[in-house]
Amino acid sequence: MRISFSKLELPVKGAFVVGAYEGKKLAATAQKLDRRTRGALTRAMAASRFTGKAKQTLSILAPSGVRLNRIVILGLGKDPGSAKGKDNAVDEEAVLVRLEALGGALYADLARSGESDVTVALDIEGPEAAHCAVHVAFGARLRSYRFDKYKTKQKPEDRPTLARLTVLVDDFATARKLWPTHERYAESIEFTRDLVSEPGNIIFPKSLAEQCKKLGEVGVAVEVLGIKEMTKLGMGALLGVGQGSAQESQLVVMQWKGADAKTKPIAFVGKGVTFDTGGISIKPAQNMEDMKWDMGGSGTVIGLMRQLAQRKARVNAVGIVGLVENMPSATAQRPGDIVKTMSGQTVEVINTDAEGRLVLADALWYCQDRFKPQFMIDLATLTGAIIISLGHEHAGLFSNDDELADRLIASGKATGETVWRMPLGEAYDKAIDSDAADMKNVGNRAGGSITAAQFIQRFVNKLPWAHLDIAGMAWSSKDKPTVPKGATAFGVRLLDRLVAKYYEAS
Ligand code: BES
Ligand code: MN
Ligand code: ZN
Repeated sequence: MRISFSKLELPVKGAFVVGAYEGKKLAATAQKLDRRTRGALTRAMAASRFTGKAKQTLSILAPSGVRLNRIVILGLGKDPGSAKGKDNAVDEEAVLVRLEALGGALYADLARSGESDVTVALDIEGPEAAHCAVHVAFGARLRSYRFDKYKTKQKPEDRPTLARLTVLVDDFATARKLWPTHERYAESIEFTRDLVSEPGNIIFPKSLAEQCKKLGEVGVAVEVLGIKEMTKLGMGALLGVGQGSAQESQLVVMQWKGADAKTKPIAFVGKGVTFDTGGISIKPAQNMEDMKWDMGGSGTVIGLMRQLAQRKARVNAVGIVGLVENMPSATAQRPGDIVKTMSGQTVEVINTDAEGRLVLADALWYCQDRFKPQFMIDLATLTGAIIISLGHEHAGLFSNDDELADRLIASGKATGETVWRMPLGEAYDKAIDSDAADMKNVGNRAGGSITAAQFIQRFVNKLPWAHLDIAGMAWSSKDKPTVPKGATAFGVRLLDRLVAKYYEAS
């Protein structure tokens, strides 16, 4: 889909999307169009259940008085100009999230309508009008993502028809200037979505490491460690998880140096289990295919590093991903095995399906040992239990640092990728004490996401740290306004925003 910005005038072909606020109140361009069509919009609203609620759409086909194929009235929600709207005033960023949702909604409504040209005029006013227009387009672009490379027999009627989207705004010159950075941002998000969507026979540790190397093109320094290097470093926990696989485990270190060399880096660490069968503690067959996206945390770290580099963020950032395949085989680790981590601490592997924390233990230790970062944030599809706790609405946030946690919560609200803070504490930590080793890799069923976080915290050495359990967020079984069902790339926007708002040099 080609996206462009243009000056406010009535288009002469295709579909024209105009806005209406709650209470069927037509926005300025919609009013003009209503007069042109001798009240077609007003009549259509009266004859339907359309109220103007955000993201509602109402189509009028082949309207008379204009050469358009159709007019679509898009609900804008509460009128910010009205007193009622002001009561519900939300902060500026949440406004952008809402505009993106409108863009996504109009894309979904028109993508397969038969229309190839769509023009939008929502009459959003004020000094930020161009920025608002860009976010409507950005939302449409994010919603238009499809992973269909393996569909060789797609029927033409299943393909989108929408080819060109034009957003009209008085200050279209500013919008045109802002758009390329947003387009490249969308490409970073789509890169993550592609990696997470790929099946386990295509994305395995070495092939995912190859994808990381592509970041060299935008200026990221990429190093890949294999079994030999990790053995030397003593990464017995990570290597234990991968030892049952025919695919060699990898640890990838990505560095973006956008600030001066003396500035301590910030660090992001991702769980990259390219397929999680559970190992000898094997998972049931039902839905096991979902475990192709058990590398979602690493997918997000990779897309984030690409994004920080391509927008030349004024920050030093390190991204580390631990890439393993968790398989049952003659060489697989056994329940009861005791492994030694890079930190020197030993772990009794009670359940080989609690593998993500073993990978993170060594990846996090390596990260702080080598880079002494300002903070570390890890992302992992770590526990089914976090889905029981929070559903698919928020990622679980665990942190030893209130400032970092609060910043993550605020960044979540600003981007729509929300997180919910969960507790940590000694009482939970006790649950993973082992009789045979320094700790075991599972507690009992109680507080499963929290004991997993406690395990990870044992590998954080007095440094601000946050853990995001994204098991409920990395994949969506439903279409969302700006995220079609499938891989979500959850965390790329959250963390790009965190960096931009709090950690970039001025
Ligand atoms: N990758 C899974 C967690 C998961 C489950 C992610 C469902 C997404 C959807 C993880 O490795 C795992 O198997 N966790 C176990 C831990 C248990 C053995 C303590 C779980 O959550 O059941
Ligand atoms: Mn597992
Ligand atoms: Zn897993």
